[in-house]
Amino acid sequence: MELEKELLSLKNNAVSLILDAKTPEELEELKLQFVGRSGSLTKLLKELPKVPENERREIGQLANEVKTVIEEALERALEQTTKHRQAERLLTLKQQIDVTEPGNTPPLGHLHPVTEAIEEITEIFSHIGFTRVRYPEIEWDWYAFEALNFPKNHPARDDWETFFIREAPHATYGPMLLTPHTSSGQIREMLKAEMPIRMLNIAKTYRRQSDVSHVAMFHQFETLVVDEKISIADLKGTLDYFVKSYFGADRKTRIRPYHFQFTEPSFEVDITCGACLGKGRLPDGQECKLCKEGWLELGGAGMVHPNVLKNSGVDPDKYSGFASGFGVERVATVKNGLEDIRDIYSTRLSFLEQF
Ligand code: PHE
Repeated sequence: MELEKELLSLKNNAVSLILDAKTPEELEELKLQFVGRSGSLTKLLKELPKVPENERREIGQLANEVKTVIEEALERALEQTTKHRQAERLLTLKQQIDVTEPGNTPPLGHLHPVTEAIEEITEIFSHIGFTRVRYPEIEWDWYAFEALNFPKNHPARDDWETFFIREAPHATYGPMLLTPHTSSGQIREMLKAEMPIRMLNIAKTYRRQSDVSHVAMFHQFETLVVDEKISIADLKGTLDYFVKSYFGADRKTRIRPYHFQFTEPSFEVDITCGACLGKGRLPDGQECKLCKEGWLELGGAGMVHPNVLKNSGVDPDKYSGFASGFGVERVATVKNGLEDIRDIYSTRLSFLEQF
């Protein structure tokens, strides 16, 4: 009976140690200590043959039970401590990685300053009912000049240093060219004969020129309004509205007499300079280098010439209209205080990232 006692106390001892164990390593140790090849249970089992024969069966069974209990306890505890360890690992991993932190965003580009300007101009004019239109950029002479009241071989044509296309001239429309201005859109718009007209034509224009304020390919935006009783007041009001929306409420507009074949009267449009605020002199008394006496030139405008209305099938006795044509690059550089218009087509990232 001595062995029976020893077996039971070994079982209690082993099970309580197993329950106290916190790590899989501790449990491996206990396994060796009790059921390993030289473990204490194994040693006790070796005593079995010494037990008197009549008790041997009973004690043998008990020994087996003790072994099973210990092995099962070990197995369960091992499972639990392993799970616990995994959970702990996961927890520390989560503490190291803040899963709520926003990810790294890759560097993002933005629209080109010219595209941004076109979108802004379109938006501003859309608020006062102008519809953006597009017309061919490879055009006939008739739409770009003749219908706009330039007689054939008129010297004023030279002001638009035009690229002509090597193609046989059209019998009615003459030679083909790259649009030197968006005013050809006036003719195409009026020929559609849908009155009243509030057109915004933004397109690429091409001229043989290149210096600090000119590039060979640039964009213009052209307004055309045709209705009954359209006057210079409508033109001036529209220009003021655009300038204040695009450049800021503190900017003023002025129109100066000028000459275009297709408008009468014709004007050049100026706005007050953003650097000297229209004063022509900087606060320290120095002359402002950005402008001429406080004013910056933006583009041309005027009342649509009666001949242009007639050429486009519009009755000049019933209708009148105004038109304006500005450079997109020009307004964008003036707004952003750039001095060299060619910068706007630079591919330097350090330059483009300013916008
Ligand atoms: N087409 C003229 C230019 O390119 C600008 C303009 C447009 C002038 C409309 C008057 C009316 O210079």
